[in-house]
Amino acid sequence: MTSLYEPTKVGSIDVKNRVFLAPLTRNRSKPDYSPSDLAAEYYSQRASGGILITEASQISPEGIGYINTPGIYSEAQVEGWKVVTDAVHAKGGKIILQLWHVGRISHTSLQPGGQAPLAPSAIPAKAQTFIATGMVDVSEPRAMTDEDIKRTIADYRHAAECAKRAGFDGVEVHAANGYLINQFLTDGSNKRTDAYGGSLENRYRFLGEVMEAVLSVWPSDKVGVRLSPTGTFNDVSDSDPARIFTYVVDQLNPLGLAYMHMVEAFPGAEETPDDRAVIDAVIDAWDGFYIANGGYEKASAEAAVASGRIDAVAFGRPFLANPDLPTRLERGAPMNAPDQATFYGGGAEGYTDYPALEA
Ligand code: PHB
Repeated sequence: MTSLYEPTKVGSIDVKNRVFLAPLTRNRSKPDYSPSDLAAEYYSQRASGGILITEASQISPEGIGYINTPGIYSEAQVEGWKVVTDAVHAKGGKIILQLWHVGRISHTSLQPGGQAPLAPSAIPAKAQTFIATGMVDVSEPRAMTDEDIKRTIADYRHAAECAKRAGFDGVEVHAANGYLINQFLTDGSNKRTDAYGGSLENRYRFLGEVMEAVLSVWPSDKVGVRLSPTGTFNDVSDSDPARIFTYVVDQLNPLGLAYMHMVEAFPGAEETPDDRAVIDAVIDAWDGFYIANGGYEKASAEAAVASGRIDAVAFGRPFLANPDLPTRLERGAPMNAPDQATFYGGGAEGYTDYPALEA
């Protein structure tokens, strides 16, 4: 039986265990959207995880949707991330950058020139974001033109190159949680009548072009993708999630990716009976390494890996609060409780000051 604590290979990446850090928005970037000076300490404290997946990082100035999230498109950002990857590697860890474009989950105050956020269709999401003045409704987006789509695909390629120069072990394409790629996939947000909307093939096209761009920079065995087929966060909806997401996985399978990472449950969202069936259908359709995320604890994570149903677990809140999570899980040690008040923004408090077991 496979153990959660044993080494494995994710694509071509050797990892020491199957306890991974899930991507976590922390809103502590510098004004130029390079990572916080504390980010190297924060990530390297967690270097005992098999793979650390960074917080979602915007691929372009247009890709931002929340205050103080880091980017991966400028030289300052590449330099800032290099400090992070060096610190993680010095401790023998592996770190993958998550490539992010929020699409319509943004606000004009965050956008270059105060422009409307981009989206497949000009339909505002019933969702909120955090800006300089606090929580606000997201802005009405404008539908992307062919030109916008071409530029955005080029932005993904450029960001993938920046991530490579910053020394990451790989990249994860964020196609989940109601952000831009998810908005193209699902028919609640994609009402396009051109080659990017309508049929399954057309709704997949944008993700397919993003993958092609990223795979022109990175070998496929260092590239992952994140999906959330049952998610409703950020006003996602689809008339038949199992159909589109098994189609997506069928298209991704031949690419030979390092992994597929799926949000099985999102904090605060109730799982409906149908949701489990959708998740199972997507896992069944996927041929490669599978990282599960959402709601796992010691017993459920150990059992799911032992059964061979999943290959690894990405832990969010538990890893946020316990820098030595793999050790604590393995020993059944007590856990620090995460402090929600310090999740987003601020400094060291709630970021780099959670104690390890033998501090
Ligand atoms: C968030 O900032 O709230 C956020 C970002 C990325 C996600 C989910 C939530 O995938």
